[in-house]
Amino acid sequence: MPVIIWINGGFGAGKTTLAEELHRRLPDAVVYNPEDVGLMLWKWMRPNDDFQHLPSWRELVVATALSLRRHHAETLIVPMSLIRDAYRAEILGGLAHAGEEVLHVFLEADAGVLQERVNARVGIPANPGANQSAREWALSRVDAAVAAATRQPTGTLLLRSDRLTPAELADEVLAAAGHGARPQIRGASDLGFRGEIADLYHRYRHGYSPAVLDAITGIFGLTNDDLAVDVGCGTGQLTLPMAARVRAVIGVDPERDMLQRARDAARDAGVANVTWMLGVDIDLPTIRALLGDGSVGVVTVGQALHWMDQRTLFANAAPLLRPGGGIAVVTNGTPLWLHDTDWSRALRQFLEQWLNTEIKSGCGTDDESQRRYREALAAAGYEVHSAAVDYDVELTLDELVGGVYSALGVGRLPPPSERPAVAEQVRRIIAPRNLVTEHVHVAILAGRMRSDQLSGRS
Ligand SMILES: C[S@@+](CC[C@H](N)C(=O)[O-])C[C@H]1O[C@@H](n2cnc3c(N)ncnc32)[C@H](O)[C@@H]1O
Repeated sequence: MPVIIWINGGFGAGKTTLAEELHRRLPDAVVYNPEDVGLMLWKWMRPNDDFQHLPSWRELVVATALSLRRHHAETLIVPMSLIRDAYRAEILGGLAHAGEEVLHVFLEADAGVLQERVNARVGIPANPGANQSAREWALSRVDAAVAAATRQPTGTLLLRSDRLTPAELADEVLAAAGHGARPQIRGASDLGFRGEIADLYHRYRHGYSPAVLDAITGIFGLTNDDLAVDVGCGTGQLTLPMAARVRAVIGVDPERDMLQRARDAARDAGVANVTWMLGVDIDLPTIRALLGDGSVGVVTVGQALHWMDQRTLFANAAPLLRPGGGIAVVTNGTPLWLHDTDWSRALRQFLEQWLNTEIKSGCGTDDESQRRYREALAAAGYEVHSAAVDYDVELTLDELVGGVYSALGVGRLPPPSERPAVAEQVRRIIAPRNLVTEHVHVAILAGRMRSDQLSGRS
């Protein structure tokens, strides 16, 4: 798709690095830097304090982009800060008016990160005076750039360049530009379970013990004639052990990277009776059309119901289930920062400061959520049973940090350069210990089909 990718953001936001990464992936695109237009104007006339104030610069920037697009490139990559709203509107409006498709990307970063990056810039060794004044000029514009992030027009792709790597930023931009787009699954929210998170999730999240599988198998009388569907399967924590108890399982998840990791884990474990499906909770009727009414022994939802429409899911599952089968809603332990221990409280305090937000969601593990799930199952006509499996596990510093990262979503992961500092903070939190004990409470809420539900089936 012909498109102009305009990369906006303050000095030090990473515009040039992103432009380079995009160019590496789109070698036929032209990288057009409107700064050169300013420098060209300054050759012919007395330089002012900012070439963006020159109406000729703004006119020429639009005209040059249109000419480049017409004669030289399908895709233009334009790394250029446009912090003043009026200038941005004039230039992007001019391009749109000429019929160009513009993807406006704004790279956001904390003021401290921008300042650090500007200070670290290597200038012209021969001219330290000029470097210093360029640096001061850029530093004086940091606050305006941070404030501008909140004023960007609808349709702007706002990305945190202090949390995403250049490769991840490029993924997001290309997806939004329609180049190798990430699948937009109807009904799925973007929770950030992709990229590096898939590996972190696979590596650091607890699986489910045989006792959990015994409980589910017992409640629904599962045998190796049964089919199972695991909705929100992630990297296969519940899908894979379930596959050993039944004939076959369908693992459903909206995130391609999670499914790919799950598929690899199945291959490594020699599990051959799982089908992986890119989809969401509301796709159960499609699975019903495929497998038929009364065909499934259990629909499992492991640590994922809090992102789903429970009522619709429970209603859609009913016709799919065989007599005596049902739904198992499984939660896999309280989040690491919500335990009733000193280290967990300190961890929460650190995370809230670092992420600059309150984090209190129990992700479905809290009593209130469990009560709601139970009531929703009963209201949908299921007979509700519950079971629990409790155990303690020792976590190393690496496991604790990895567990936290796995829950952040790709947009909030710290860049690799900041990770040693994060690990050091967590090390101080647990010191003088090297290990902490996590108490894991696995709760299983099972909704079993009642026989009067079955008689109403068409
Ligand atoms: C925390 S992981 C749980 C993975 C695994 N089931 C477990 O027990 O560890 C939640 C998963 O739910 C998926 N998910 C989020 N919204 C969903 C939806 N509406 N339908 C199906 N899956 C969804 C996410 O992509 C993610 O892989």
